[in-house]
Amino acid sequence: MKAALFLPLGLAAAFPQLGAVPGVTNKHLLKRQQPGGNLPGGAANCPFNPDHKPGVGSTLRFPYGKARFGLPGTGKGGYQVPAPGDEAHKFMPPTDKDIRGPCPGLNALANHNFIARDGITHYTELVDAIQNVYNVGYDLANFLAAFGIYVADGDPITRKLSIGCDATSRTSWNPVITGSEPGLNGHNKMEQDASLTRNDYWTHGGDNFNFNVTLWERFVESNGGEGALFDLPNVAKWQFKRYQESRSINPQFYFGPIGFFQHGAASFLFTLFPNGNDGYLPTTQNTASFYGARKNNEGQWEKVPERIPDNWVNRKTPYSLLDIAANIIALYTPYPVGFGGNIDGKFVGIDFPPYIVGGSSNVSTPADVSCLLYQVISQPFPSSLNGVITPVVEALSTLLQLIGGREFENLGCPFPLTK
Ligand code: HEM
Ligand SMILES: *[C@@H]1O[C@H](CO)[C@@H](O)[C@H](O)[C@H]1NC(C)=O
Ligand SMILES: *[C@@H]1O[C@H](CO)[C@@H](O)[C@H](O)[C@H]1NC(C)=O
Repeated sequence: MKAALFLPLGLAAAFPQLGAVPGVTNKHLLKRQQPGGNLPGGAANCPFNPDHKPGVGSTLRFPYGKARFGLPGTGKGGYQVPAPGDEAHKFMPPTDKDIRGPCPGLNALANHNFIARDGITHYTELVDAIQNVYNVGYDLANFLAAFGIYVADGDPITRKLSIGCDATSRTSWNPVITGSEPGLNGHNKMEQDASLTRNDYWTHGGDNFNFNVTLWERFVESNGGEGALFDLPNVAKWQFKRYQESRSINPQFYFGPIGFFQHGAASFLFTLFPNGNDGYLPTTQNTASFYGARKNNEGQWEKVPERIPDNWVNRKTPYSLLDIAANIIALYTPYPVGFGGNIDGKFVGIDFPPYIVGGSSNVSTPADVSCLLYQVISQPFPSSLNGVITPVVEALSTLLQLIGGREFENLGCPFPLTK
């Protein structure tokens, strides 16, 4: 059975675009949702660095995980990053010409030149960098890059991506045909409401990407203060608070099928950031460095550029698709929340069968989550209450070409692997 997109009748009537979901055709769907020209993440406010220099990857002298050319690395972590003496990867704050965005993990990579310092990166650079630095597994690395670039925010031909604002003039192969490419700031693409440390797009005039110091302070407090950990139970608790808060104050709140991405990103706090020289504990100090939070002399938290902590040793084993799926379940289970969005002051659930039914999750195993992840890269899915995202064919074919279909096939996903 080919899974289709079903919508509650009332919702389909209110938003006719959602009723008729197109089959997976191709190029006209390359047009991306506009991030809003003059809004904070729009093209008009996007920094421009005419001197784009690619990031520096794995070299003979400093091989890291030996991930190069978009191929799998060794998957053997537990080494120091940046390596002692590796000048090419030393921390440098971004200039006002460089783009940074909603992802602390990628902002830190740009500040260390593992991806281009100007914040314009591409598929290969990204897949290599997140393997070499964080020991993200090859399957998950490709999934994240494929979703970010093809499905959400980048260019399927150049395979370029802005890690923040709309830089279409630099990412697109042909701006007339592609329309604007929002970059990772694009709302309800990969970026969503109820982020751990970022505002909602609609409540803050389009600023959905800057680090919010107040949210960070409240996160630390929620954990139980600076001595407490950003571990799974604490991260789950804070994420739930953010969901409740956004749903109650944001009239445009939307938490769709990729709401689980929020849980996935949240898991990075206790799976990818922790330092082997610190017993792999997700301490406040360690987490703060990646987020770019620092206590000033008056004892107040303030924002500084994201930075890999000194003497940081990465995780030993690759963090795979199934690992992240298991953590998504573990974060979601103690605080199950509804999938859907606010319309006229009321929360309306969505359907994305068999995974989401009547606004409730029908997902219970890591295999289910992996199938859902696979499906959002291959089938139309409701992006917000007035739109549908239809992944371009290139997303799926790239993913299958690179990691093969077996990862998904073995899970018994309820839909075919080709299209
Ligand atoms: C190709 C790889 C990646 C892409 C395209 C990507 C993209 C994004 C995007 C769009 C968001 C915003 C989600 C939201 O809160 O609405 C995000 C959040 C986040 N990302 Fe990434 N990411 C990638 C890899 C990573 C890695 C490797 C790490 C950790 C080492 C990481 C850490 C995080 C964290 C912690 C957040 C939550 C931020 C917050 O709201 O506090 N990401 N990422
Ligand atoms: C930070 O978040 C708080 C809580 O949501 C909000 O009231 C405040 O306006 C935000 N600050 C900025 C600068 O966006
Ligand atoms: C819920 O999930 C189960 C098991 O994965 C599946 O058999 C069932 O069809 C799903 N329910 C709906 C309504 O899609």
